[in-house]
Amino acid sequence: MKLLFFTLTLFLKIFSLNGQASSQLNLDTNWIVWNQNFRIQVPNVTIPNSIHTILHQSGQIEDPLFQYNDLKLRYLSLDDGWTFSQSFRLDEQETKNANAISLTLDSVDTMASIFLNTQLILNTSNQFLRHKIDDIKSLLKSSNQENVLEVKFSSPVKQAKSAADSYPYRMPPECPPKVQKGDCQINMLRKKQCSFSWDWGPNFPNIGLNGPVYLTFVNNFDFEFAVSVYPKQRHDLNNWIIDELVTIRRAVATAQNIKVITKIEEINFENSNNLTLNKKIEQKSILIDFSDSIDLWWPNGYGEQKMYELKVIVEMNGQSLTRWKKIGFRSVQLVQELTPSKKKEHGLTFYFKVNDVDIFLKGSNWIPADVFQERITRDYLTDLFNSAKESYMNVLRVWGGGIYELEHFYDLANEYGILVWQDFMFACAAYPTNPEFLQSVEKEVEYQVNRLRHHPCILIWAGNNENEAAISTDWYGIKDQKERYFADYRKLYIDTIRPVVEKYDPALSRPYLSSSPTNGLGSEEQNWLAKNPYDWNYGDLHFYDYKMNSWDPKNFPLPRLMSEFGVQSLPSMSTLSKCFLSEEDMDLQSNLTEHRQHHGNGNQEMIDEIKNNLEMPSDSDRRKNFNRQIYLTQLNQGK
Ligand SMILES: *[C@@H]1O[C@H](CO)[C@@H](O)[C@H](O)[C@H]1NC(C)=O
Ligand SMILES: *[C@@H]1O[C@H](CO)[C@@H](O)[C@H](O)[C@H]1NC(C)=O
Ligand SMILES: *[C@@H]1O[C@H](CO)[C@@H](O)[C@H](O)[C@H]1NC(C)=O
Ligand SMILES: *[C@@H]1O[C@H](CO)[C@@H](O)[C@H](O)[C@H]1NC(C)=O
Repeated sequence: MKLLFFTLTLFLKIFSLNGQASSQLNLDTNWIVWNQNFRIQVPNVTIPNSIHTILHQSGQIEDPLFQYNDLKLRYLSLDDGWTFSQSFRLDEQETKNANAISLTLDSVDTMASIFLNTQLILNTSNQFLRHKIDDIKSLLKSSNQENVLEVKFSSPVKQAKSAADSYPYRMPPECPPKVQKGDCQINMLRKKQCSFSWDWGPNFPNIGLNGPVYLTFVNNFDFEFAVSVYPKQRHDLNNWIIDELVTIRRAVATAQNIKVITKIEEINFENSNNLTLNKKIEQKSILIDFSDSIDLWWPNGYGEQKMYELKVIVEMNGQSLTRWKKIGFRSVQLVQELTPSKKKEHGLTFYFKVNDVDIFLKGSNWIPADVFQERITRDYLTDLFNSAKESYMNVLRVWGGGIYELEHFYDLANEYGILVWQDFMFACAAYPTNPEFLQSVEKEVEYQVNRLRHHPCILIWAGNNENEAAISTDWYGIKDQKERYFADYRKLYIDTIRPVVEKYDPALSRPYLSSSPTNGLGSEEQNWLAKNPYDWNYGDLHFYDYKMNSWDPKNFPLPRLMSEFGVQSLPSMSTLSKCFLSEEDMDLQSNLTEHRQHHGNGNQEMIDEIKNNLEMPSDSDRRKNFNRQIYLTQLNQGK
């Protein structure tokens, strides 16, 4: 095969396992990527990465965001054989020393078959999962022979279509509106829902490895833990529960006594537990009463963001292994009670208390910071968080059409005091409820909740974006089969997701809300599907009106909590100039600007909104004129 030409072999020295319970070998460099017919081949690829970025960086395609490239590059996501291949060699002695070797792939995007030394070891179909294959030692070659790991992707566009074709009934919306120029049936896949276009974003069905890939050499044992910290009782900020889940992996299944020590060294806190293991992989739940004197974690504007390092040490067979996470102590309560009028027709309140203090939420919705996740740098995120803090925000809503954000996002939110309203990744669609889909969602929720629950910034879990509204107010013309879709809705968000969330992260840690917008308790009383999820008197509201004069406060509703509202504006010239070529393109109604507008009639709406209060510019210099148009759309939005 031609590919041999490119094969870059890696000689690896794994640090000694002697005396160590486990160690890790990262496979993040030197991947080779090729497509179905081998016409495209790229050596020396570093992950996380995806094909658009890989091909752009290696000079084989233009910047995907330039001009009409979203249309021109569609063939990339239709290719049914993108393959990421990795060759590595292992030291014989080190491999022998390990009692078990596991392989972890953190976020495979999305439909792929994974081969180790030509043997199929895993099929993936959910981007939001981490895949850990517990013992692959028997498949590995040592003594300087080459091991080959291959991840073969199939086209997400074709897979989505075939999943929809074989589903027993319609799963609307089949396709996005034409103006979005997107692919169809993303709701059939557990994949970033906006990757098949959105009303704010382009159609780039990503294919790639979004997270690290590594081998773990388990000499004796390995472990990881999840932890939530919450008050023992509501309104009591002196007595806390440290709620840990420790997952221990061993190479053998023999009875074994172990010790689990939890430490917060800064305040000399230590707790020790003796446990007995019986299985190879075992999860142990540990609830620790904690009442030392601590400093609380507060949202931006309400106090300091004090974090503590919590260490968990597992001791077994005379060996010990330490892992740590940063935690914060704060309480969260969602208050839904009769308003001061006590009149039923005024509905219920809907606001949050953090550390028993009423919080006025001020913030924004958060979509992925780049359509290509691997391009998001820490500096870029830090800059965005700094901007949020400096504009007095205290909350960001991680919107359900994107991704469960990367670790660094939540670290920054903790550090800057930005609360996070965390949607689960379902948006603007009906979803399948066949057993395989529900099982995949259960695993996803278990994984993500345990990955994230130690972050004090996370304020609330919410089941989805706008799906209650879509079903209740019949966006898809499915009234005649209402009962079927109503049942599907409850099965997914109420009967599948909610119990998994509450099993690992109880309501005292943070609440679970079925949707956004929703009437909250008001929806619950209507069997989770409110007649009007947009009722101002209950829950949260999404509000859009592109016709009104948005500079007149009287035109806005007064809901209990506004979780989405606003109007469009253009990005600044510094951003746009990366996608625009000529002065021809520079107008709010040029072909290119219209092409990039994914909301029907959106550019005309921006003009009309500006004209409510200002005059549109009419400079004969196209560039100057466009700059003024941009400024006015931003002024209109800012006001
Ligand atoms: C491979 O990529 C790395 C990082 O991008 C670079 O430093 C190195 O020079 C490349 N090696 C080859 C052989 O191209
Ligand atoms: C993966 O999918 C293929 C094709 O559908 C199937 O034959 C195979 O058994 C699956 N393998 C695993 C490990 O799930
Ligand atoms: C745990 O076991 C050790 C000895 O194996 C013993 O000294 C200690 O008291 C035990 N701790 C608890 C909390 O039971
Ligand atoms: C804009 O689009 C129209 C209709 O497709 C086409 O006739 C026209 O040539 C385009 N103009 C430019 C400058 O590309």
